[in-house]
Amino acid sequence: MEPILTVSHLQKYYGSRGNITRAIDDLSFSVQPGEFVGIMGASGSGKTTLLNCIATIDTVTGGSIVIDKQDITRLPRKALSRFRRERLGFVFQDCNLLDTLTGRENIALALTILRRPAGEIERQVAQTAKLLDVADCLDKYPYQMSGGQRQRVAAARAIITNPALVLADEPTGALDSKSARLLLDRFEHLNVEQGATILMVTHDAFTASYCRRILFIKDGRPFTELIRGNDDRKAFFAKIIDVVTLLGGDSGDVL
Ligand SMILES: Nc1ncnc2c1ncn2[C@@H]1O[C@H](COP(=O)(O)OP(=O)(O)O)[C@@H](O)[C@H]1O
Ligand SMILES: [Mg+2]
Repeated sequence: MEPILTVSHLQKYYGSRGNITRAIDDLSFSVQPGEFVGIMGASGSGKTTLLNCIATIDTVTGGSIVIDKQDITRLPRKALSRFRRERLGFVFQDCNLLDTLTGRENIALALTILRRPAGEIERQVAQTAKLLDVADCLDKYPYQMSGGQRQRVAAARAIITNPALVLADEPTGALDSKSARLLLDRFEHLNVEQGATILMVTHDAFTASYCRRILFIKDGRPFTELIRGNDDRKAFFAKIIDVVTLLGGDSGDVL
């Protein structure tokens, strides 16, 4: 099968001569359709930088990123925003819902922009809301929802276009453990039942334990990789903690 994402010799440097931060330094990996992959690493290791490059939010210094057969580092600006809108879905730590829109309107946003017929939007919103367990949030405004509900509404909004790739940066970062579990449970469901391809950045071992494969990065370079295989989540969690310890972090918080 052809990968949905191929990152080749990616470099992303910040600053200018004499004061350069090599946030990403020669990183290569690929993701197959239907995978649920985690990116882990200590704070400052380049996780967000990597995700922002893949998300087409940030430009790269060198290397290439091919998503769905398109090298997005070479797409002109207009084609890029279209590609982002139609092929990618994003879930960030602060969910960025629009405060003046209801849950329904927030979830429908991408389809509204694509000018899909009202009936189709209605159907898709209902189906996606059910999938993420936020059917009771459709008529609420973000301030009337819990943090966990807001984050699941954001996830619903991200996947309603059926994106080739769902990108999540610390999606559980602002959630209590029960809400985190619920969101991750829904991610797992999307991956297993809907075949969604998910790339999730996290510093948290529990969150990462929901992934099927984890790439660890250190100082913008690959460190090691863990594959879940037949391990249950608990066994996988223990292996993740081992790598985290090897990386030099305290098991939970620092990394
Ligand atoms: N806009 C920026 N300008 C300069 N340096 C940056 C910028 N964004 C990130 N960095 C630096 O790049 C490195 C990686 O940061 P980041 O990708 O945010 O790490 P992580 O998400 O793993 O915590 C850090 O050293 C950070 O200070
Ligand atoms: Mg980050």
